[in-house]
Amino acid sequence: MKYYIKTFGCQMNEHDSQILAGILDNYTDASGAPSSEKNEMTTDIKQADIIVVNTCCIRESAETKILGYLGSLKKYKTANPHVILVVCGCMAQESGAKERIKKRAPHIDIIFGTFNLPKLQDYIRTFRQNQQFIYDIEETPGLEHAVLPVHQDIQSFKGKVNIIYGCNNFCAYCIVPYVRGRERSRSMQHILNEVRAIAAAGGKEVMLLGQNVNSYGKDFPDGGSHHFATLLEEVSKVEGIERIRYMSAHPKDFHVELIDTIAALPKVCKHFHLPLQSGCNQTLKDMNRGYTTEQFWHILEAIRKKIPECAITTDMIVGFPSELERDFQETLEFVDKCAFDDAYTFLYSPRTGTVAAKREHQIPDEVKNQRLQQLLAIQNKHSLANNQKLIGSVQMVLVEGRSKTEASVWTGRTDTNKIVNVPAIEGDRDYTGLFVPTKIVGAKTWYLKGEFIR
Ligand code: SAH
Ligand code: SF4
Ligand code: F3S
Repeated sequence: MKYYIKTFGCQMNEHDSQILAGILDNYTDASGAPSSEKNEMTTDIKQADIIVVNTCCIRESAETKILGYLGSLKKYKTANPHVILVVCGCMAQESGAKERIKKRAPHIDIIFGTFNLPKLQDYIRTFRQNQQFIYDIEETPGLEHAVLPVHQDIQSFKGKVNIIYGCNNFCAYCIVPYVRGRERSRSMQHILNEVRAIAAAGGKEVMLLGQNVNSYGKDFPDGGSHHFATLLEEVSKVEGIERIRYMSAHPKDFHVELIDTIAALPKVCKHFHLPLQSGCNQTLKDMNRGYTTEQFWHILEAIRKKIPECAITTDMIVGFPSELERDFQETLEFVDKCAFDDAYTFLYSPRTGTVAAKREHQIPDEVKNQRLQQLLAIQNKHSLANNQKLIGSVQMVLVEGRSKTEASVWTGRTDTNKIVNVPAIEGDRDYTGLFVPTKIVGAKTWYLKGEFIR
């Protein structure tokens, strides 16, 4: 059978989709023995016998888009009644999701949650036997101990590894702890095995994934907050891996000792993604973020002092309930002071079940939009200024391939995760997956322009 996977949401979901594909690639019969029937991934949805939609529910806009997409899948089932339609991921795990999905897309055959990836084959087998709708969001315990197959990406010079599932933080706006459960760290041995497998397949960069990577190992018998630093040291020893990234780090758990570890490990990228969310202490408190702007500033200073060539990026939410105009002004001032290299900026979106959604004083959409524009104006100024500082320097770029928008341009990333676009010249070899020293000759808000030192 041919399968097609559509993924919405974050890197965590992208990686889960690679696991879902890995599970489908290794199709077994009911006894668990390899099946003579083979599955194969297709990028043409019209060819697919199984369509899997891995969903996100972080903001309402994501859900609206996904529900529309699910509705549109009906035509494939009409054209070909044996097609199996599967929905999984964070949105499937939400309370009330079954009803919402079924209302908009009654043609969906299987819905399962974020804890049940390993059961995908069982669901498909059962459905093929009795053609009855399946819904399963029961938490299967022990997922963190499972060793699951991972479908090798075409971009095999980059790989992702889950290090910790779930989140314990319950930021007041956020749905993730409700749909991904509590923190569960994977064993260091399993993680290292996966990193080695990525390296053996030609991988040069690895991304360690978790909602809060700094919590890694706090649930081990000995507890302790040093496990993430130890993990970085161990992953650094894997031959072939040249770049190590991680996503996301929580500012409340980012300690100065970790900065020392990162500074001492050449393979760990000097890019720090530290989601600030708000630059106003009252709002941070209402968000349950667990740090003040002063503490955040202290981390920023420590990073920049120790690693001056670093890049620091952030996430921001505007229009959190009861964010006053003067609170927002504080955010603008603080963001101006932080001078981030980039910021992902979001309009606050109420998520049913979270504390913030129940609060009075929700901010009207037009105010949120105005605030977003003001924030972007300040951030864009810093993004450009930080990029301009790199003009004239030589950066090591890991080339990802030709640009999706311009075929005559190579695109890649610096250690600090900045995009560099380089015009291709005739006779260029295929640089995809290679590290190429690149002279930075220009800067835009979102990317750098470079010339390979060929
Ligand atoms: N665990 C990660 C966050 C994952 S969600 C972390 O804590 O860094 C990615 C980003 O989405 C968050 O940092 C936040 O800025 C944004 N976000 C989460 N919930 C949101 C909501 N309800 N409305 C708007 N933005 C939200
Ligand atoms: Fe959501 Fe906060 Fe957990 Fe990040 S740390 S996933 S924002 S609850
Ligand atoms: Fe990621 Fe969206 Fe889930 S951001 S963790 S896929 S809600």
